[in-house]
Amino acid sequence: MDHRSKANAPVLDNFWMPFTANRQFKATPRLLAEAEGMYYTDIDGNKVLDGTAGLWCCNAGHGRKKIVEAVERQIRTLDFAPTFQMGHPAAFDFAAKLAAHAPGGAAAQLDRVFFTGSGSESVDTALKIAIAYQRAIGQGTRTRIIGREKGYHGVGFGGISVGGLVNNRRMFPQIPADHMRHTLDLERNAFSKGLPQHGIELAEDLERLVALHGAETIAAVIVEPMSGSAGVILPPKGYLERIRAIADKYGILVIFDEVITGFGRLGTPFATDYFGVTPDLVTTAKGITNGTIPMGAVFASRKVYDGLMVGPENAIELFHGYTYSGHPVACAAGLATMEIYEEEGLLTRAASLEEYWQEALHSLKGQPHIIDIRNIGLVGAIELAPRDGAPGTRAYDVFVDCFKKGTLIRVTGDIIALSPPLIVEKEQIDTIVSTIADALKRAA
Ligand SMILES: Cc1ncc(COP(=O)(O)O)c(C=O)c1O
Repeated sequence: MDHRSKANAPVLDNFWMPFTANRQFKATPRLLAEAEGMYYTDIDGNKVLDGTAGLWCCNAGHGRKKIVEAVERQIRTLDFAPTFQMGHPAAFDFAAKLAAHAPGGAAAQLDRVFFTGSGSESVDTALKIAIAYQRAIGQGTRTRIIGREKGYHGVGFGGISVGGLVNNRRMFPQIPADHMRHTLDLERNAFSKGLPQHGIELAEDLERLVALHGAETIAAVIVEPMSGSAGVILPPKGYLERIRAIADKYGILVIFDEVITGFGRLGTPFATDYFGVTPDLVTTAKGITNGTIPMGAVFASRKVYDGLMVGPENAIELFHGYTYSGHPVACAAGLATMEIYEEEGLLTRAASLEEYWQEALHSLKGQPHIIDIRNIGLVGAIELAPRDGAPGTRAYDVFVDCFKKGTLIRVTGDIIALSPPLIVEKEQIDTIVSTIADALKRAA
């Protein structure tokens, strides 16, 4: 193979890697070659326990035959078909399947599905739908979106505008947005098990931003029900309910970004179900195809959908869509994924492990460097004290150490974030936790 410089090792120069320290990585690469169940195998044949479901996406574990076969069958039968003024059965079938599991159940009526190719596209789609809906109901001045500090909503211009991670924002122009404060509060909430007690008052920021900008300028508020990428930041008890109530008071739509929390991560099909708070739009991706084929979807309420189904019947109602919206192969992968989730009860399995997971993670309290431990569903975070003058390096060293010992964790800054596939067994949870404990003891 001429693209390999030596046995098994690819040439690394050409792939400009995303969200990666390219020069550092290429000097000391970590390359995964295969995956099955809970494990990756690296190019040298070492097994690596997956503590992150890939990147929060392989909820049913790796190498699922049912998905492989469905994808193979679909490419043979219909490799691609447009969905602009055309259609194919797989897109409608998959939308119907998703609708049957829609966030909030039947009562929430979040069963109109717009397909995208990723989480970032889902976010930009939801923001555009929100603005278009407001305009369609005679509220055309509502073009601003409220997000939150430390929020992550992908990397489109809409997503970075409402997002709250400075490195993703500082170089780029943005759409009109403003931000509520984040809900991370180590002083009051460190080592909380599950949802933190303190901080519901932070939801009042939405009311303050209404007072600052005028409700008539605000189309929607978008939040991750649980912030994943910033290092697992949980909503204080009652917080999301309060956001919903304030939004209702001022005619503001609520968007839940469930790209990470969707498809069983918290032990319910969606975070919408976990919190019992119903948004108007829900963004998803990742677990929708078990990470196998790029895809995302936005669930819209019937109110929003119907609000846009106006004007002459031959007129396109929403000038928005992607070549790959409802790609047949992605839909086939998604259908097979949903069948696995149904057959194996994976949309709720995390609930039966939540307590074991919580106690396992919190057993790390007292290990070197740990300043907080957070958990919800099958998500966990272990926050480390940063090294003086070198933030992020301690957690990165722990990450490299764990990888060498055969466990894949994820770090963001000095926070270790964990989200194993939802098929994880208790012994594997123990392995993840003990590998981290050992690495922390070695970490300077
Ligand atoms: C909450 C949230 N929204 C959006 C995205 C962006 O998804 P993608 O990387 O598929 O564009 C992510 C990715 O991690 C996410 O966690």
